[in-house]
Amino acid sequence: MRWLGRHDHPVLGIELAPQAVEQFLDEGGEPVSRYRQAGFEICRQGNVELWCGDFFHFHIAQAAEIGAFYDRAALIALPPATRQRYAFHLAQLIPPGARGLFISLNRAAGEQLAGPPFHVSEEEVRELFEPNFRITLLERGDPEPGSGFQEHVWAMVRRGPSD
Ligand SMILES: C[S@@+](CC[C@H](N)C(=O)[O-])C[C@H]1O[C@@H](n2cnc3c(N)ncnc32)[C@H](O)[C@@H]1O
Repeated sequence: MRWLGRHDHPVLGIELAPQAVEQFLDEGGEPVSRYRQAGFEICRQGNVELWCGDFFHFHIAQAAEIGAFYDRAALIALPPATRQRYAFHLAQLIPPGARGLFISLNRAAGEQLAGPPFHVSEEEVRELFEPNFRITLLERGDPEPGSGFQEHVWAMVRRGPSD
């Protein structure tokens, strides 16, 4: 997010945990302005605006139209039934034709534990997102030593009415 902000892109991030927001802001080291809107505490630092609150309470009317999105590892924080809601809510926020870089984490068979973090398979990512996005698997990373998590990197494009 910071890299995008430094390249002159206005960035909006959503995070539930205030500690995670504060850690991100501390690492940035620049002045922060804060305000409240629609139940979120919003912290602005340079071109990055972090909305601290529940993603499911964020609605498109609260932000400028989104041009692109980046998501790493959101799904592994969510239990199975909530992942369907997440994929649907994301699709409501993203306009047709907008692109996303989506990074999912899964675990090799035999290392699946009760979550969070949950195991999210390649098949599940396809099932969740293909109805509303054209998705392409770009890369399968190597399993991380210790955790066994493996990154899958996906390109996504929000489908329009004709595709
Ligand atoms: C597995 S972490 C991934 C964090 C980061 N993107 C990364 O790649 O390291 C999932 C994050 O989602 C946040 N989260 C979980 N449920 C959320 C919700 N309903 N709304 C906003 N953020 C949420 C958690 O607080 C956590 O920081």
